[in-house]
Amino acid sequence: MLVAVTRKVSPAIARCELTHLKPSGIDPVLAASQHETYCRALAEAGCRIVSLPADPDLPDSVFVEDGAVVLDEIAVLTRPGAPSRRPEIPALRAELERYRPVVEINAPGTLDGGDVLQVGRRLWVGRSGRSNAGGIRQLGEFLEPFGYTVAPVSIRGCLHLKTAVTRVGPDTVLLNPDMVDPVCFDGLNILEVDRSEPMAANALLVGETVIYPEAFPATRRKMEQADIQVRTVPAGELAKAEGGVTCCSIVLR
Ligand code: GLY
Repeated sequence: MLVAVTRKVSPAIARCELTHLKPSGIDPVLAASQHETYCRALAEAGCRIVSLPADPDLPDSVFVEDGAVVLDEIAVLTRPGAPSRRPEIPALRAELERYRPVVEINAPGTLDGGDVLQVGRRLWVGRSGRSNAGGIRQLGEFLEPFGYTVAPVSIRGCLHLKTAVTRVGPDTVLLNPDMVDPVCFDGLNILEVDRSEPMAANALLVGETVIYPEAFPATRRKMEQADIQVRTVPAGELAKAEGGVTCCSIVLR
């Protein structure tokens, strides 16, 4: 059984952190409605949904992915790069302690879960404005005893590594080569986003289904031509908050 830990959209989401986008009038009601559709897609893909309550003081708290990296053996709570997001962690700790031994990244290390891509025993971590060398080193120290490798990766022009690349099959990643060098992912099948859709690399593989924003039809067609099963969801209002489909859940076994 898969569990998807989610958190309801904060009524304050319009005050979220923005790095590459300008404020564009996020509608919290529409964002909440899109989030409900997303949670239904997760349930249809086989997840039991855990829904943490909304917090009016934590605008970005719907983006739970950034708060923890959860493997089969252990959960690593992060220390988000944006100080406004650090108070999101205690609620995640309380929930994740039900499933895994929990450790945490300590200052001065910073790490956002959105920078961490896992394929099997290999992890890649984006060197971003949110994840620093100390955070990446601590993640490696926690995970290498379990047989994982942790490799830092440079990214360009995007918030997180998973803006640039995500897993869409057992050994396949969907990637924007303008944001991350495909050479980093040797041994994997690489599917590139359609050039007309630079923000299209963020997809969420759950079981055999890829949950995917409806805004990227050309890249969706490329995935379907590669026999990948895609379930689209409306995600435009959450995208205005610089959040993608991976950001809104932590899926664990
Ligand atoms: N608004 C998403 C983030 O910056 O963390």
